[in-house]
Amino acid sequence: MCGIVGYIGDDQATPILLTGLEKLEYRGYDSAGVAVYNGTHLQVAKTKGRLKVLEELIHNGVDVPGTVGIGHTRWATHGAPSNVNAHPQVSGSGKFAVVHNGIIENYISLKEFLIEKGAKFVSETDTEVVAQLLEYYYEGSVIDALIKVLNRIEGAYALGIICEDDPEHLYAVRKDSPLIIGLGNGENYIASDVPAILNRTREINRLEENEIAVLSRQGVEVYNTNKERIPKKAEHIDWDISAAEKGGYEHFMAKEIMEQPKAIRDTVKPRIKEGKIVLDDVKLTKKQLEEFDRIFIVACGTAYHVGVVAKYIMEKHLRKPVEVDVASEFRYRTPLIDDKTLVLVISQSGETADTLAALRESKKLGARTISIVNVVGSSIANESDDVLYTWAGPEIAVASTKAYSTQLAMIYMLTIYMGDLLGTIDAVHYQYYINELKALPEKVQQILEQKSKIQYLASREFNSKNVFFIGRNLDYAMSLEGSLKLKEISYIHSEAYAAGELKHGPISLIEDGTLVIALATQNILFDKLMSNVKEVKARGAVVWGLTIEANKERIKKEQVDYEFCVPQACDMMLPSLAVIPLQLFAYYVASLKGCDIDKPRNLAKSVTVE
Ligand code: M6R
Repeated sequence: MCGIVGYIGDDQATPILLTGLEKLEYRGYDSAGVAVYNGTHLQVAKTKGRLKVLEELIHNGVDVPGTVGIGHTRWATHGAPSNVNAHPQVSGSGKFAVVHNGIIENYISLKEFLIEKGAKFVSETDTEVVAQLLEYYYEGSVIDALIKVLNRIEGAYALGIICEDDPEHLYAVRKDSPLIIGLGNGENYIASDVPAILNRTREINRLEENEIAVLSRQGVEVYNTNKERIPKKAEHIDWDISAAEKGGYEHFMAKEIMEQPKAIRDTVKPRIKEGKIVLDDVKLTKKQLEEFDRIFIVACGTAYHVGVVAKYIMEKHLRKPVEVDVASEFRYRTPLIDDKTLVLVISQSGETADTLAALRESKKLGARTISIVNVVGSSIANESDDVLYTWAGPEIAVASTKAYSTQLAMIYMLTIYMGDLLGTIDAVHYQYYINELKALPEKVQQILEQKSKIQYLASREFNSKNVFFIGRNLDYAMSLEGSLKLKEISYIHSEAYAAGELKHGPISLIEDGTLVIALATQNILFDKLMSNVKEVKARGAVVWGLTIEANKERIKKEQVDYEFCVPQACDMMLPSLAVIPLQLFAYYVASLKGCDIDKPRNLAKSVTVE
């Protein structure tokens, strides 16, 4: 989704903005621009296309001089990707320049209002309304005008604003869309995410909803909409800068796939103390847990697929009904939720608009909420009753891999922890599961070491037009994720089906040469799944069978075209192993097809609009 960077200091702003925007490219965008105060007025340069196009246009910033400015990468929502719709958007006289992430939901009525007052609009964006409205309310004080604007706009926004009359300040505000303030020495920054400013400062402030930051060279002051000062404590970011760089890999996705053993270890290890799972962050008592009559899991995309795995696991081990829903459906379907419901929200970014809305809806209905989140201090983490952080480190590639693996690990831990409290997991199994958890990183590593086998398979099948993933139970949940990974980065059409559903429709799509990826890691359902394999083979499918090592000979007898075996693990944790070859397959296929792996078309890393 869109990226924002802003700078005020003594250095030239544009190169800093361009470097920062580069670090946000992973969020996805289709146009880019900057606005800088050049000593007399605001100079704006923007264009459709990649940052490279903008850099060439302005000779890497030489053509846009000045020491205070804002920059933006836009992911189109209102109005097609074009030069005129790119940000910054400016007010009628050019006095205000605005960059914006999010959506102003009531922009049409505001636009009509402003047109009636004589404003002339040049773009199709909702953002231009903010710039025009600022000018409309401006009577010499930017903050006063901004407060009036905030009283009128509805929706989600992170805004960076500069004003020609007030070049000693840079203004920022956010609601339902992330924005941080970077604190430097004689210079300060705004950014939609930490990597954008990590090469300049490690001290940041996080803005709460509708807090207004006024940045000068000397410092940053934060106000609420009543113009009262809000004291802020700086947060130190201690990530290794290389965590946000490729580190010798061709793509972030490859690096992040390979980082999974470490990410799982970092998530699990601190939470196992003296043979017990310790979730300090969850303050649920045994009594509270017993009183929940159902668990709801809500998330989007890959995180939703973790939820599907969780449904199977939690229902089996906790003996409570578990419902899982995609957040965009959940929030509009009046779900049966009250104070006896535990709602589990899963999100890598912690900023996904639908997931955040679902969390808020659940709280409104009285549910207790726990979130599993990767980004510390994000909106979902802040707003849920309890938060369990995954320690995956920054995930830059749009396709989620290590976040998925750490979310799964969190689900196992939460299930074992709750099962112990509820008495549905006995002491022997408890110990067994803890040992299995500890062994996971090493088993994932073993699979990664066989990546060349998957690369070979990809080299044989990357020209497929349609791919089907089938599985039952947890293998079905894995099929969903395998299929999403493949389609989102390689643009190959793929579908995931519960294998038993094949005969109810999709088998008609199988023809000579169609690739079917059959997941059969769940021993108890192995034979059932092999019946489905026979059915698709009889119709000409090429089959890749994925199972556990103990079933190697059995799967060979089924005469599958390719087989891959993952190490043995307890059933519950097999998804963590089965997903690795599926991620690798998607990666190698996309690579062979020459796709833009880290930034697939039309996709954004963090979906902060509905
Ligand atoms: O940040 P979140 O986990 O809330 O994001 C949810 C989805 O947008 C995300 O998982 C998406 O599906 C991934 N790009 C898939 O790889």
